Amino acid sequence: MKKFGLLEYPHKESLSKKVFNEYFKKANIDAVYEDIVIVPDNFDDEINKYINSYDGLNVTVPFKEKVIKYVEPVEEAKEINAVNCIFNNKGYNTDWKGFYNSLNPSMLKEPIVLVGAGGASKSIIYALYKMGIKKLFLVNRTVEKAEKLKKIFLSKIDIKIESFDHLQSIIRTSKTFINATSIGMFGESFNLEVRDLSNLSLIYDIVYNNTPLQKIAKENNIKCIDGRTFWYHQGVENLKIWHIYTPEIFDETFKTFARGE
Ligand code: ATR
Repeated sequence: MKKFGLLEYPHKESLSKKVFNEYFKKANIDAVYEDIVIVPDNFDDEINKYINSYDGLNVTVPFKEKVIKYVEPVEEAKEINAVNCIFNNKGYNTDWKGFYNSLNPSMLKEPIVLVGAGGASKSIIYALYKMGIKKLFLVNRTVEKAEKLKKIFLSKIDIKIESFDHLQSIIRTSKTFINATSIGMFGESFNLEVRDLSNLSLIYDIVYNNTPLQKIAKENNIKCIDGRTFWYHQGVENLKIWHIYTPEIFDETFKTFARGE
């Protein structure tokens, strides 16, 4: 039996575990996908054991950067400075590719505002750059983290940092609003009214449950791409890297989950 898993801390029942295990069953793949919790203090001692004994791994918060020195990162993972997928000792970043494949660049009307400056944002900025975007507004609660991202992508994309306190006015004048924070995961709302969103042609919310933001978008006919779609596209990339991708079966499995069955 093949073994796949997600390296994480703290433990959170992952969507990956649910969907991939169901997919393995439907596709007759003799494999299992596990959530693997590593206590951060033990990471350096334990990581090689997992890399060597699993057929493929995903990596999430807080290990995406830390894991790089234990694998051979492909060019994109090096540029983003984050690995979230491992196969045969090579480190990949499927987040950026997932975002890239989840929308047509013509949907990205400018100005674009990206909220959040964590690991997901890093991959999204790289994807935007690969889609030909030259500038964006970046808003984050902790300004220092936004400044760090601006530095990483200095030669690639012009990032204008704006304060979180000005979010409402920036969104009012933007066409594309990308939420790359976890706001909404537990039902939290952005402090935004419907009229603040009326200028937007696209909301991209990476949170994979049905958030208040996604609800407002749907109720007001604003095109919305949600975190389930984002997850699906990075999921496809993982399966391709692990050489176990059967498109029709994965689509069918994913749709069942997306409908909440
Ligand atoms: P990920 O890898 O999913 O991006 P992360 O690196 O922990 O996860 O980043 C989470 C992002 O959500 C950060 O931008 C964080 O803002 P800070 O940098 O200020 O911590 C943002 N975030 C989480 N909860 C938030 C909240 N309640 N209000 C504003 N921003 C929040």
